[in-house]
Amino acid sequence: MRLSRGVAVVGAGMTRFHHKLHAGKTSRELFVEAAREAAGSVDSGCELGDVEALFVGNFSSDAFEHQAHTAPLMADWLGLCPRAATRVEDACASSGVAVNMGALAIASGAYDVVLVGGVEKMRNLTTEGVTDTLAMAADDIYEVSAGFTFPGLYASLATAHFARYGSSWEQLAAIAIKNHHNGALNPKAHFQSEIMETARRRGERRGMVFSDEMEFLRSSLNPVIAYPLRLFDCCPVSDGAAVVILSAAEVSKRFTDTPVYISGLGQASDAMSLHDRADLTTLRATRVAAEQAYGMAGVSADDIDVADVHDCFTIAEVMATEDLGFFPRGEGGRAAVEGRTALDGDRPVNPDGGLKAKGHPVGATGAAMTYEMFLQLRGEAGRHQVEGAEVGLTHNVGASGGTVAVQVYGR
Ligand code: COA
Repeated sequence: MRLSRGVAVVGAGMTRFHHKLHAGKTSRELFVEAAREAAGSVDSGCELGDVEALFVGNFSSDAFEHQAHTAPLMADWLGLCPRAATRVEDACASSGVAVNMGALAIASGAYDVVLVGGVEKMRNLTTEGVTDTLAMAADDIYEVSAGFTFPGLYASLATAHFARYGSSWEQLAAIAIKNHHNGALNPKAHFQSEIMETARRRGERRGMVFSDEMEFLRSSLNPVIAYPLRLFDCCPVSDGAAVVILSAAEVSKRFTDTPVYISGLGQASDAMSLHDRADLTTLRATRVAAEQAYGMAGVSADDIDVADVHDCFTIAEVMATEDLGFFPRGEGGRAAVEGRTALDGDRPVNPDGGLKAKGHPVGATGAAMTYEMFLQLRGEAGRHQVEGAEVGLTHNVGASGGTVAVQVYGR
């Protein structure tokens, strides 16, 4: 698969992801905030009026806000009607797929400039309401009716991985520690504290003192959510939006001297229900989407300098780093313990804190990953910059792997 026309990211913006900060705001306000920042980030000062079409990733504003038909609403609030506006729903991969659709729309020759974004305002509901709403992305007949929630589904993947490869919860804890460290360096992240700082704060309230991260993570302050996954193995419930502006490569210099090119993309699907999969230790859709994206970009896993992968639960980062070919099967957990995926490791993964610490407003996550690559490849990521990053990758998973979108970026 090849794009018949090059595609560049020329602007990017996002709100901070958070569970309380955006109380009282609606999706449309969050989306407009991110879009205005994206337009402002374009070096030549892109007027949003240059945008010819919109693709809006959103999982369920219907359930979260009693508001469907999200895309024209965003176009209207940005003053972009009557341009084409399309909502993309693929669970937590909604805006990763929207990025692909925007890129394909440009590659087709239909448009020169498109706006792609994602938004989710989840915290209108209680945790129970959020859990129930998210479960709509699993198989209602075979999984949800049997009591599965998303923490439960990923817990099943974790126990399968532990059983086959001898990987362990301690390896997952190393991922949580690393991603909270990175989140503490990212002003847009939901959690901006090292785990030890959180341990001190939460411990003080209960008269508990912890000597290191593992003591805290093994304590009652890190309760089991779905065995073997504990609180710090889960992404939080966040509100937020992210927007990127894509243009045809040949017109990108009109907007900036330093565009970031989408050099490859891929997308794949898989059986929704875990019981229909031959192997629970891998996501087939990740492997297929990555193969497409690597092939289109003409690179291999070894060429990737920086990656944002879908760590909705810590086990998901282990599986992603294996399925994307960064490490052999069964060795993703050990690689994390050895520091190989740290900011200064040989395979930096989730420099922005990942879903674990940056947060996961589900429909916004894929676009927020592209936002991160826009910063990383231009050397503008500040304290979480991966030095010298030239080739980037984003990996966005819908639900437990029913959908996966992958993009490869270059300068
Ligand atoms: N990691 C670390 N701390 C977290 C956290 C997380 N994932 N989620 C919440 N917290 C913290 C809160 O900041 C709060 O701390 P404070 O007391 O210092 O303010 C405390 O834990 C309680 O927060 P609360 O929101 O009441 O937690 P909760 O028990 O209602 O929710 C989970 C915790 C894990 C159930 C919820 O975050 C969750 O469902 N996450 C997964 C979301 C998901 O499935 N997304 C889709 C993936 S496919």
